[in-house]
Amino acid sequence: MTRELAGKVALVTGAARGVGAATVAWLHARGARVLATDIRPEVEQLAHDGVAVLVGDVSEEDVAVRSAAAALERFGGLDILVANAGRSVNKPVTETTAADWDEVMSVNARGAFLHAREAFRVMRDNGGGAIVTVGSFASTVGLAEAAAYSASKGALAQLTKVLALEGAPHGIRANVVAPGVIETDLLDTFRADSRAYLRSFGDAHPLGRVAQPEEIAEVIGFLASPRSAFVTGAVVAADGGYTAA
Ligand SMILES: NC(=O)c1ccc[n+]([C@@H]2O[C@H](COP(=O)([O-])OP(=O)(O)OC[C@H]3O[C@@H](n4cnc5c(N)ncnc54)[C@H](O)[C@@H]3O)[C@@H](O)[C@H]2O)c1
Repeated sequence: MTRELAGKVALVTGAARGVGAATVAWLHARGARVLATDIRPEVEQLAHDGVAVLVGDVSEEDVAVRSAAAALERFGGLDILVANAGRSVNKPVTETTAADWDEVMSVNARGAFLHAREAFRVMRDNGGGAIVTVGSFASTVGLAEAAAYSASKGALAQLTKVLALEGAPHGIRANVVAPGVIETDLLDTFRADSRAYLRSFGDAHPLGRVAQPEEIAEVIGFLASPRSAFVTGAVVAADGGYTAA
């Protein structure tokens, strides 16, 4: 394993499990120092040499400000942001409450915005960086019974394109990874029979299966590293061909 990210500092939100935890491992294995944050205290289990943790709700402005400050204070910089924290409420539109809508939008859209803004400020002052937001196939196509989720992931894609445009003069790249269905605990919020649902969703992907979190971390890592130096403002599908049709 090359330590191609030695000297880089990353902030990963939603890092306690799933895609976020896999991304922390990917970045750390390549030499980056990582601030891993999550609303779940379990994120503290990731703390070790080169990985610091912070427990907080991404939708709170103060948490975004404190996270950027903690990366600077602990590791002396902030070169990579992975805005990964996300949640979903899965109901038909007619059963979706205003509280459901606000909760999903506040984590997936507002939380990413606040963290991107704070990271942008640091990156702009330090000569550049890479922002990767974790969208979804629902960033580009509608997902039935996921109105707030689909709207939030569409908003995230548009936010990221604006970050790319405003960031370019400052050496800041910003891209969206748009995964298909991934085998993580998030699926448990979709419905009670989530594992059967997962398998049926696998059949809907042309590759005939769902993704593992490590496969998505590979794409995030590529977009976070200088390997993707000429990629910005892109919505990069990692969905087994789901949106190809
Ligand atoms: N699992 C899928 O099928 C799938 C598909 C496409 C996109 N995604 C996206 O991938 C990202 C990671 O999801 P995952 O599948 O690993 O799910 P997950 O539920 O395993 O992980 C999400 C993490 O975000 C954290 N989180 C939720 N709300 C938070 C908040 N308010 N503040 C801080 N942290 C918070 C959770 O505690 C959790 O650790 C999400 O943005 C999700 O929308 C997932």
